[in-house]
Amino acid sequence: MRKTIVAPSILSADFSKLGEEIANLRDAGCERIHVDVMDGQFVPNISFGAPVVKQVRKMFPDMIFDAHLMIIDPIKYVEDFAKIGCDIIIVHIESLSGGRECLEKIHSLGCKAGISIKPKTPAEAILPLVDLLDEVLVMSVEPGFGGQSYIEGSEQKIAEVRKILDENGKQDAIVSVDGGINDETGMLCKNAGCEVLVAGSWIFGATNREERLHLFD
Ligand code: DX5
Ligand code: ZN
Repeated sequence: MRKTIVAPSILSADFSKLGEEIANLRDAGCERIHVDVMDGQFVPNISFGAPVVKQVRKMFPDMIFDAHLMIIDPIKYVEDFAKIGCDIIIVHIESLSGGRECLEKIHSLGCKAGISIKPKTPAEAILPLVDLLDEVLVMSVEPGFGGQSYIEGSEQKIAEVRKILDENGKQDAIVSVDGGINDETGMLCKNAGCEVLVAGSWIFGATNREERLHLFD
């Protein structure tokens, strides 16, 4: 079975001490930080942009940072996120420009490219892009807010995405999941072949973050 890690979403962090929050996760053995960028158009909420990520990224050069761009026209902004040192840039297939050109641009900037699919988007939607994918982020809630409940059955889509990647020679591409992850839903996703469990409220609300970070090791 593939290794599964938890990637905390800083959307649930205390922004008044973001550096301390990430240091605390790093000390607990966290490898990867998930950064939720929202524009108030693609999703109803506004979060933060590249200038905020830039500050914390440079404090933690050894961690993996992924930028989950929930924005309407991502191709316009991928360069900003590459320049500030994001390792993986994930764009939505349902956005205006989250297609081949955008993924190629992400690669040309030296980053890994991922596509995210919303709960109502079928797994097969990734097929036209499959050769360009380093990662597929399956949304297990409607994007826009932290703290929502996992949509039942999302693990089936994870298994379908894993199958599509494997059948298309993309065994090295990873499947991640985002939304409503906790001990139970995380295990369902891990068993379906998911390697990265994005978790916001479950990690930041924990008394023992270290235990949760390593629950699926
Ligand atoms: C939702 C974001 C998620 C969110 C997850 O639109 O993409 O990354 O922060 O939060 P939880 O784990 O609380 O559902
Ligand atoms: Zn996210």
